[in-house]
Formats: sequence, C-alpha cells, structure tokens
Amino acid sequence: MRNLKISASLLAADFAHLADSVRAAEEGGCDELHFDVMDGHFVPNITVGVPVLEAIRPLTRLPVDVHMMVDEPGRFAEAFADAGGDIFTVHIEACKDVRATIEAARAAGMRPAVSIKPATPVSDIEPLLGSIDRVLVMTVEPGAGGQSFMPEMLPKVREIQRISAGRGLDVEIAVDGGIKAGTAPQAVQAGARTLISGTGVFGHPGGIRAAVDALRAANAGG
Ligand code: DX5
Ligand code: ZN
Repeated sequence: MRNLKISASLLAADFAHLADSVRAAEEGGCDELHFDVMDGHFVPNITVGVPVLEAIRPLTRLPVDVHMMVDEPGRFAEAFADAGGDIFTVHIEACKDVRATIEAARAAGMRPAVSIKPATPVSDIEPLLGSIDRVLVMTVEPGAGGQSFMPEMLPKVREIQRISAGRGLDVEIAVDGGIKAGTAPQAVQAGARTLISGTGVFGHPGGIRAAVDALRAANAGG
C-alpha cells in the first residue's frame, strides 16, 4: 500500500468561519490544505489571495498547497511563500516560461508543482517531470468546486505514472476535482498519491473524519 495524502480544498469550507474549517480539517485527519487562488482571467471566478493565507497560516501545522489558477503566477511566488505557502502549484497553460516559474517557486522556498487542465496532453508536461515535486492532473475544468469527476482523465494519470516510473523519478501525482469516496479508488489505481477534495471533505454528511476515512479506503487495494 502506497502513501496516500488527503488534501482538503478550502474552496468548499465555510468562508464565514474559515478558522473553524481549517482546524476541523487538521483534527479530521487531513494531510494538507489546498488553497485555490483564482484571478477572474485564467479562470472566470475570483477567490482568495495572500491576506487570507496569512490569516489562516498560524492556525494549522498542515502544509498548504497554493493552487494558482492565475495568469503568470510566478509574479506572486514570493508573496505566497512569505504568507506560508509550502507547495506552489501553477498551470502550465498560464505560464509563458514555466521553467522560470518553477525556479521562482523554488527560489522562494516552496515546492513547485505543475498542473494540466483537461484539454492539455501529458506530452506538454513530460519534459518537466524531472524538475518538479508534483504533477496535478485536473479531473474537472478548473474554476469552480462541486463539479463531476471526469474519468477520461485517468489515462493521463496512468501515463504520467508510467513515464516517471520508467525514468526512476519520484514525482507525486495529484488529482483535483470531483474526488469523493466513489471516484477516489479509480484515481488511486491509476497512480494518484494525493487526493484533493473540497465538497468530498467539507460536504460529507458524516463530517470530515468520515470523509477522510472514506477517501483513505481508496488505498485499500493499492
Ligand atoms: C477547482 C478547484 C478545486 C475544487 C475542487 O477549480 O481547483 O480544488 O475546490 O472541488 P471539488 O472537490 O468540490 O470538486
Ligand atoms: Zn484546486
């Protein structure tokens, strides 16, 4: 059984009581927090930014993955690092020079990750696999929570897993979008090691602990 990380997407948290949601995610057994930043340009919506990360950072010891759904995210690497970001996930589609963006994340002290949208092929990200800590395969169109998982993204997860194993790389594969107990096993079987889940975690009728247990059960056969 491989290590499986559960990352709670705060987009589905109660924004009026964000501190409670952050603490509940940690107490409920999540391994990481996922902080969705949208700029109203790369994606149609606008969400949260540096001041909100600064506000929640002292409340938890969990690592924070900053998911930048923002054009030219490298401009903000230092600001998010100073605010306490641990992983800096950028979209390959949003960067003119993705290698420079990866370098900016590392220089700022964060672990760089690169994400691909549903329409972006694995071949685009393949040359970067040796330079990043994590690949994020979007399993919905980025821009909103609560959408349905796209199973047609699973071959991309398998392909990245196959390529990185073949090259002896230890790049972690994450999936984001529509991840719940019912969809997680397919993603894990395909090679995902980090499950990012918003409504699956914060919207679970049994609470966060039950949600996390249900997601971890996806690893049972792995
Ligand atoms: C979507 C975001 C996701 C979102 C996932 O653009 O990147 O992190 O919060 O939400 P669910 O788990 O509800 O699909
Ligand atoms: Zn996200």
